[in-house]
Amino acid sequence: MRITTVIGNRPQFVKAAAVSGRIREIGSETTIHTGQHYDDELSAIFFTELGIPAPEVQLGIGSGSNTDQTARMLAALGPELERERPDLVLVYGDTNSTLAGALAGAQAGVAVAHVEAGMRSFDRRMPEELNRVLTDHASDLLLCSTPVAVDNLRREAVAGEVELVGDVMADVALAFAPVASERSRALVEHRVEEGDYVLVTAHRAGNVDDPARLEHLVEILEAVPHDVVFAVHPRTRARLEAVPELRDRLERAPHLRLARPLGYLDFLRLLTGARALLTDSGGAQKEAYVLGVPCVTLRDRTEWVETVEAGWNTLVDLEVAAALGALERPAPSAERPQLYGGGHAGERVRDLLAAYTAAP
Ligand code: UD1
Repeated sequence: MRITTVIGNRPQFVKAAAVSGRIREIGSETTIHTGQHYDDELSAIFFTELGIPAPEVQLGIGSGSNTDQTARMLAALGPELERERPDLVLVYGDTNSTLAGALAGAQAGVAVAHVEAGMRSFDRRMPEELNRVLTDHASDLLLCSTPVAVDNLRREAVAGEVELVGDVMADVALAFAPVASERSRALVEHRVEEGDYVLVTAHRAGNVDDPARLEHLVEILEAVPHDVVFAVHPRTRARLEAVPELRDRLERAPHLRLARPLGYLDFLRLLTGARALLTDSGGAQKEAYVLGVPCVTLRDRTEWVETVEAGWNTLVDLEVAAALGALERPAPSAERPQLYGGGHAGERVRDLLAAYTAAP
């Protein structure tokens, strides 16, 4: 089998770590990096730490509006796929790089497989939701993390073949948590004690692009009654720089450590040691779940509904009182059901890709 994988930003590098090596055991893979993320701390460090094969092709697209970025990716991917003529194009998740890869594949007449298919927030204002829906309807093989995702796709009557595989990001979190415990010095570097701080990430356009929403985020962070490590994404940093008063408030708060974006091992180490995660990331919600860390989600809905149903995730949007209440709630004592495939999703993806590309 000859696969072309299109990836371009941080969560996709993590997901590829569960799959690329396995594809290369039994077939060939060409990885195209769109360049949506280009800073070392959002890109190169993940390849090094996770041992992902270096991309064969770098498109160097860089930043831009959703429309502009996706359009430039499409224009660059077309000739690459013409030259490669792979059996299948593989994409992950819900970013602009995902949609561009899927659409370019479909337009080139190449089969498209989508890992993390069927996730829905049912909020079309999120660029990611549009990317998810459009990618799924352009895909031939839809590889789902959860039964809820399978049901979503059945309801939408997608044309492609739908399979439940588990979650590849959960595979990587489970495999690398012990490595992170051994190698990372992040607790010392960020001056926090095991079990006695809150880890924060926030970068959703819907939370940081509007200064009024950004101010609510700042209010929540100021009010957390624990040490906080806030790993500031470049989008968030840029929005804070644009409203210096908000940036200064964060810098003045004595319990807050403002950090640059974290490498994967430092992130996992800080997550494992945290009393709770406060986040608007999708991926981090399930990473917290598989590592047994209570999560408080800065959104009013989530695609990862089973983490909420299991009692390990609470949705608070940007409400200060709700966020503080949720952070103080004790972790559920019940066992965590295994929701995401138990660390074997990457193997299932490999096997289904092999079967799909071998079919006459
Ligand atoms: C993108 C994804 C989002 C994902 C996130 C993970 C879309 C629509 N959004 O959001 O789903 O959760 O990646 O991080 O695809 N920038 C840098 N260095 C970089 C890359 C970006 O400084 O290497 C800055 C640029 O100013 C850029 C901004 O960050 O304008 C946002 O980057 P972009 O890739 O557009 O979206 P993300 O917010 O990262």
